[in-house]
Amino acid sequence: MSTRIACIAANWKMYKTVDEAVEFVKRLTEKIDTLEDREVVIAPPFTALYPLKDLVSPSWLSLSAQNCFWEEKGAYTGEISPVMLKDVGCSYTIVGHSERRQYFGEKNEDINKKLKALIKVGIRPIFCVGERLEEREAGKTFEVIKSQIDGGLDGLDSVDVAKVVIAYEPVWAIGTGKTASPQQAQEVHAFIREHLAMLTNKSVANEIRILYGGSVKPNNADSLMSENDIDGALVGGASLEVDSFLRIVRFEA
Ligand code: PGA
Repeated sequence: MSTRIACIAANWKMYKTVDEAVEFVKRLTEKIDTLEDREVVIAPPFTALYPLKDLVSPSWLSLSAQNCFWEEKGAYTGEISPVMLKDVGCSYTIVGHSERRQYFGEKNEDINKKLKALIKVGIRPIFCVGERLEEREAGKTFEVIKSQIDGGLDGLDSVDVAKVVIAYEPVWAIGTGKTASPQQAQEVHAFIREHLAMLTNKSVANEIRILYGGSVKPNNADSLMSENDIDGALVGGASLEVDSFLRIVRFEA
């Protein structure tokens, strides 16, 4: 039996001022009394992390950054280290989002260093993988996912791999309104879990949460979350309004 607790994560990208972020979390925590079988993660821009630190006190709610650098400190103008993220209350950090790969040239090796640096300070990485449309159309989905996973997790032992949350986000579905069908997503999630079992062992692979991301909306969350290997969602656009995000948090599978 798996003990995977569903995780619904809000990736706010470069949206929301401090006031807007604080207002959102206050409203969310007013509307949710308690959650037993799922957790909620908010990933605001860096500037809103510290202001949210004390507001994410309910046990079902956690804070995440959207990126980090791998060094602990040093002359790296503009960068933020995992130690600093821990300091402002982050228990998660998104790593390797396709927007970072696409616009900021992040490679699997960079992502691997970030994963290791986060795990070292006790922050759980939300490690994103996903194929581009032309890769899917060329029948290369599994190959691409496998190489992203192998590169990202390189050198991590099973104990550390178990701390990672994977987010499968097909690039063609991000911000496009084109969601993967539950079957398409499940197929890739099952592949990822099988591959993780090969890299570690069955029991670790069975415990790792694999989130789906890419145009998750109130009207498709239930069917996606009903699939066996889909353990939560990484939500962009639909996480910016309390009501739509709340509906996704309250998915019924
Ligand atoms: P979207 O973004 O829900 O707006 O497609 C998801 C993501 O990029 O994490």
